Amino acid sequence: MSKIIELRNVSKIYRMGEVSIDAVKNASFYINEGELAVILGASGAGKSTVLNLLGGMDYVTKGEIIVEKEAINKYSERKMTAYRREKIGFIFQFYNLVMNLTAKENVEFAADFKADHLDASEVLAQVGLSERLRNFPSQLSGGEQQRVAIARAVAKNPLLLLCDEPTGALDYETGKQVLKLLSEVNKKYKKTVVIITHNSAFADLGDRVIRMRSGEIESATKNSKKKTVEEIEW
Ligand SMILES: Nc1ncnc2c1ncn2[C@@H]1O[C@H](COP(=O)(O)OP(=O)(O)O)[C@@H](O)[C@H]1O
Ligand SMILES: [Mg+2]
Repeated sequence: MSKIIELRNVSKIYRMGEVSIDAVKNASFYINEGELAVILGASGAGKSTVLNLLGGMDYVTKGEIIVEKEAINKYSERKMTAYRREKIGFIFQFYNLVMNLTAKENVEFAADFKADHLDASEVLAQVGLSERLRNFPSQLSGGEQQRVAIARAVAKNPLLLLCDEPTGALDYETGKQVLKLLSEVNKKYKKTVVIITHNSAFADLGDRVIRMRSGEIESATKNSKKKTVEEIEW
């Protein structure tokens, strides 16, 4: 298996006037192609910062981020925009759907940027929403909205699916369904999936587990006893 993502001594410092915050400190780890990786850490550990750097939403202060053998930290803003559009599917805690577009339109809207996108209705059917194509987000439950958001990210057919606390706003059972869906997407579409969470039970789901504490990588290990969503509890 080849490395699809590698962080090499990455630091991110946010400067605000006199104050500077070391959000990520000298972080190094890699993720192999096709893996489901879990980044685990308490609130404030620097997880979202790492994911945003990986997703090309922000630039490193120091270090290198290699994606498919290219140092994305050297990209111009223009190239970074193309990288985000073409290679990244993002899934957020609060879904971030466009409220005045239907489920299907939300998915199409994001996928349209890419020539090799998947069919919106088909992907929505795969996440169990074939009956809800014409519904607006306000007519869907939280779990359903998150499924639309997952369909939106998948339909783009991106290289990487980056998920920031994807179950954070959902109840237990719905959260489990969303995790199950993400693990199916990982297998079925052979997509590299990165899930960040503060929930240590999720670690067992990962092929690779990266633990963060106070901006540092505490450990990054391959998980030899991966569990299914049904086998974990929290
Ligand atoms: N845009 C920003 N400007 C200033 N500080 C930030 C910004 N984003 C995050 N931080 C700070 O960086 C640290 C790490 O935050 P974050 O990556 O969001 O952690 P996590 O996702 O693990 O909760 C926190 O102290 C947070 O307040
Ligand atoms: Mg966060």
